[in-house]
Amino acid sequence: MSDYELRKFVAPEFVFGYGAAGLAGRHARNLGASRCLVVSDQGVAAAGHTEAVVRTLRDEGIACATFLGVSENPRDTEVMQGSEVFRAEGCDAIVAVGGGSPMDCAKGIGIVVANGGHVLDYEGVDAIPKPMPPLVCVPTTAGSSADVSQFAIIRDTPRRVKIAIVSKANVPDVALVDPLTTLTKARNLTAATGLDALTHAVEAYASNAHSPVTDMFALEAIRGIGTALFDVLDDLRDRDARARMALGSMNAGLAFSNAILGAVHALSHSLGGLLDLPHGECNALLLPFVVRRNFTAAPRRYRRVAEALGVDGALGAGGTLAAPDDEVRDALFARLGDMRRRAGFDKGLAQYGVTRGQLAELARLALDDPCLSTNPAPLDARELEELYAEAL
Ligand SMILES: [Fe+2]
Repeated sequence: MSDYELRKFVAPEFVFGYGAAGLAGRHARNLGASRCLVVSDQGVAAAGHTEAVVRTLRDEGIACATFLGVSENPRDTEVMQGSEVFRAEGCDAIVAVGGGSPMDCAKGIGIVVANGGHVLDYEGVDAIPKPMPPLVCVPTTAGSSADVSQFAIIRDTPRRVKIAIVSKANVPDVALVDPLTTLTKARNLTAATGLDALTHAVEAYASNAHSPVTDMFALEAIRGIGTALFDVLDDLRDRDARARMALGSMNAGLAFSNAILGAVHALSHSLGGLLDLPHGECNALLLPFVVRRNFTAAPRRYRRVAEALGVDGALGAGGTLAAPDDEVRDALFARLGDMRRRAGFDKGLAQYGVTRGQLAELARLALDDPCLSTNPAPLDARELEELYAEAL
């Protein structure tokens, strides 16, 4: 495949830096908002971020209704409840404050209030006929990057699967990326969302829909997150390390929104849908196994990933291959496992309650996930089941 296949790159307007969250009111007003639905969750509200954003909206004369009914893997039922609140309150814009869950729920609400019907009607790629009302995102976790992405992942509660809604219509009007909002995150959430962001960057770089533009963001994200994550985990109050993490996460988001993802996310969406397991922790666990499996399908790409993470011998002077493929593959596998353990995660899938008897069903669901289509190696149901078994 040539590097110069036709590729488009979609990104929202974004403001990055200390204090960006304080601009929510001004940006909502510029978008013509008079009454906003603020979508957030209990944890983010308890940390004070929701109220701080509501104040900036009120300061601009914008009325607010608040919807906090979002769970960790946001559900179709929550999207529909939020849509009812939007309509009942006569809102004309949406402001999402929080991690991927409130932001994905906010996108779902926007889709439903603009197009009618049920949020599950819009599953798939480019299936949203009408644009949603103005959407401002204030991310408070450096991880999901829903604030810059074309993705919304919603849990289909009756079928117990996560569906992907992928569309340019999902790109927010503006993302206000404020590293200071991430200072309140506990260690465990910081580690899980950080490794999710790393997974976004690695999968986007290895994706068979990558482009020179997404590569630039993906590699920079891998380099940045590789060091910033552990600086943050050493000192959760380190503002500059938090900022480097927020930047790494945003770069990863710009990459994966356009290059799409791979088998790690397909496998992890299944675990989130069927068993409601935490997204970031699942990705951190699965990433080394998927990279090891994929390596021979894209060795030069994974060598660059290894180099960006500081693995010795991944690339020699001038990009020459310093060590054989299998050595670099094994060193990268070990490095990704080390990062996960250093971040505080050492459980296998069995310790999350997954049983061997569930693996075939999980693999069947993962096979239908759109993220699998851009995985560099074609994987069938049996191979997906083997990957789960390795991570058990
Ligand atoms: Fe993710």
